[in-house]
Amino acid sequence: MSDLVIYSSANGVAVLTVNNPPVNALSPGVPEGILDGLQKAAQDPSVGAVVLIGGGRSFIAGADIKEFGKITSGEKKRGVGLAPLLAALEDSPKPVVAAIHGQAFGGGLEVAMACAYRVAIDAANVGQPEVKLGIIPGAGGTQRLPRLVGVEKAVAMCQFGDPVKVPAAHALGLIDAVLEGGLLEGAIAFAQGIAGKPVRRVRDRNEKLGTAAENAAIFAAARDAAAKRQRALMAPLAAIQAVEAATTLPFEDGIKEEGRLFQECLFSSQSKAMIHVFFGERTVAKIPDVPKETAVFPIRSAAIIGAGTMGGGIAMNYANAGIPVVLKETSQAALDKGVATIRKNYANSVAKGRFSQETMDRRMALITPTLSYDGFADADIIVEAVFEGMALKKEIFAEVDAIAKSDCILASNTSTLSIDEIASATKRPHMVIGHHFFSPANVMRLLEIVRGKSTSKEVIATSMALAKTLGKIGVLVGNCRGFVGNRMFGPYRREAQFLVEEGADIEAVDRVMYDFGMAMGPLQVGDLAGLDVGWRIRKEFRHLEVPGVRKPLLEDRLCEMGRYGQKTLGGWYAYDENRRPKRDPMVEELIVKVREQAGITPRAISEDEIRDRLLYALVNEGARILEEGMALRSVDIDIIYLNGYGFPPHRGGPMFHADITGIGKVYERIQEFHQQHGPLWTPAPLIERLAREGRTFAGFPYQESTHA
Ligand code: 3HC
Ligand code: NAI
Repeated sequence: MSDLVIYSSANGVAVLTVNNPPVNALSPGVPEGILDGLQKAAQDPSVGAVVLIGGGRSFIAGADIKEFGKITSGEKKRGVGLAPLLAALEDSPKPVVAAIHGQAFGGGLEVAMACAYRVAIDAANVGQPEVKLGIIPGAGGTQRLPRLVGVEKAVAMCQFGDPVKVPAAHALGLIDAVLEGGLLEGAIAFAQGIAGKPVRRVRDRNEKLGTAAENAAIFAAARDAAAKRQRALMAPLAAIQAVEAATTLPFEDGIKEEGRLFQECLFSSQSKAMIHVFFGERTVAKIPDVPKETAVFPIRSAAIIGAGTMGGGIAMNYANAGIPVVLKETSQAALDKGVATIRKNYANSVAKGRFSQETMDRRMALITPTLSYDGFADADIIVEAVFEGMALKKEIFAEVDAIAKSDCILASNTSTLSIDEIASATKRPHMVIGHHFFSPANVMRLLEIVRGKSTSKEVIATSMALAKTLGKIGVLVGNCRGFVGNRMFGPYRREAQFLVEEGADIEAVDRVMYDFGMAMGPLQVGDLAGLDVGWRIRKEFRHLEVPGVRKPLLEDRLCEMGRYGQKTLGGWYAYDENRRPKRDPMVEELIVKVREQAGITPRAISEDEIRDRLLYALVNEGARILEEGMALRSVDIDIIYLNGYGFPPHRGGPMFHADITGIGKVYERIQEFHQQHGPLWTPAPLIERLAREGRTFAGFPYQESTHA
């Protein structure tokens, strides 16, 4: 028997313990190990029942996701899957009890549902999260789950993939008993109680499958929800279809239909992208020269300077994580305004039922407004979020350097300024780092962690761990203008303007990117973030502009007209009081005028050109960032775009999208744009090189990012 499943038996019960850390995925050898154990138990006359349990932190977290990439790349053939194991569990002469702690996810829950009974501890979670990987349950989940929990709940679980806590799963009939005390002891006692008694297999229980009329309404509502909330995703629709098959076909035929749909999803580019994202989110935590063992500073208290848009949101993050925070402003009016905004945001969440008034009160109590540096001397971290200006930031860093304790981290939320120059205002540049939150800071999941040339490894390790504590995904980036996300966003938004100047319709530019899957088109994003933000930055950096190189004209002109976007109810679009956009004839007139002044004859621009120019503007800059080492791996860039810029997960991120399109093809298109539009489209040397060598971004420079 393999080490992956350990067999033991006592008092009439055989115990099979899955031993495949860290999460007991069903890697090759695990199903075989369970099968061996079942056979051994069948042959042992002293055994009347079997307990299947996970060692370590979970029951079974699902199929081994790494295996999927091997199958789709052709490295490995898809075998019989879990079918023989499920059949053996279901038909075992000695009833099998699944004993669940941690997670029973995906294939793990499917294994549990093939067992005679499922018992669990209160704190465990069960679920079919496959859709989050762009696939559907492939081992009978869509057929057995509705037989246990009913059609409506099964559809929801398979369509959205969210975990269900054990008490709720028990109420639904998915878990037979919730055990208090030791799981193993309880499961053994349960197994002794059912040994020798007849078992009703889940596949034979049809009483919860509903009537055709009831089900028609459930499936219609599910498809409607998919259209609204899961735009362009194929797996949720496939999951709905598979559960529907459970209600219309005999069990074995339903299994076949599920298998067909699973296969279709597995080989789609969507699932490759989403699996890339799954591993990517974990890869970004790995920093080659900052090992896991690096010491971290405990962060028990924080101080924030500036209670504006960002400072207030950042303070909420700390309070939400239970970390007390001092929030400093320059005037009572600004402080009151900042605190009132925080209060309003929390109150909205309470009104929407996200958390209780008591939680809100506790969080508010953790935030101490101040106009002085009182309380700063004890802070473990100080985060600066004042106006974007180097002189002001340096002044503030010099001030806090004088009062902060020596092991206090000094972080700046700057979005464009050099962390090294900011750090030069202090006597502790090793303790200085960028914490670039995204707006709204209490909502957006991304945190770019900007490494200065002197930032210590401990400060980096602490920042990465802190990101997790704050519920963010931290991505380490280098100290260059705009860091990674905004540096790429510049060319993207520049091209959006150029396209309009050259003849594209504003709505067409936004629609093409929305249809590609972006949360919003590039011009709408400008209106949302405020066109004045970029305008101010352009004015500050005007001295860096190269004469003769084309500049976008329209947003400066819109700003000169006082059209800053949604906040002034007008930017690219006009907005009503509910911030609904509509075309504005004034903007159309402006465009005509700007074209005339610039001597541009408008032309018809295809959707392909709009999409390629916008996407490859991102990719070309991303390639430079990668080559300069400002991002550690291409997947880091992808994770930034998914979590900070509304890039659709089923496209995997801009760099993955380029890989899957083919770097050769991307390079050709960039060369075309270079010929047509000049030096702004000079191909990044890395793209030229990868195209020549037939390689991908994912393979550069570390191999471990090529999971999918
Ligand atoms: N396969 C392979 N590796 C897995 C895995 C899986 N199913 N689940 C987790 N891992 C790996 C992670 O990549 C990570 O590796 P690393 O340390 O090298 O980065 C390690 O296990 C630990 O994972 P986390 O960092 O995510 O640990 P957490 O404790 O934060 O979370 C978890 C644990 C909740 C189980 C989370 O890992 C998770 O949600 N995993 C995926 C579960 C899933 O999607 N299951 C369905 C798989 S598809 C399937 O079963 C198809 C079936 O229908 C046939
Ligand atoms: P904001 O203008 O909303 O807030 C800045 C606040 O700082 C103001 O309330 C101001 O009174 C206060 N302030 C100025 N000097 C101060 C001082 N000496 N002490 C205490 N408070 C002081 O600006 P916002 O948008 O919050 O930006 C802050 C920083 O965050 C900037 O560096 C900006 O580049 C960065 N950032 C902004 C993002 C955004 O979308 N707004 C996104 C990411 C970063």
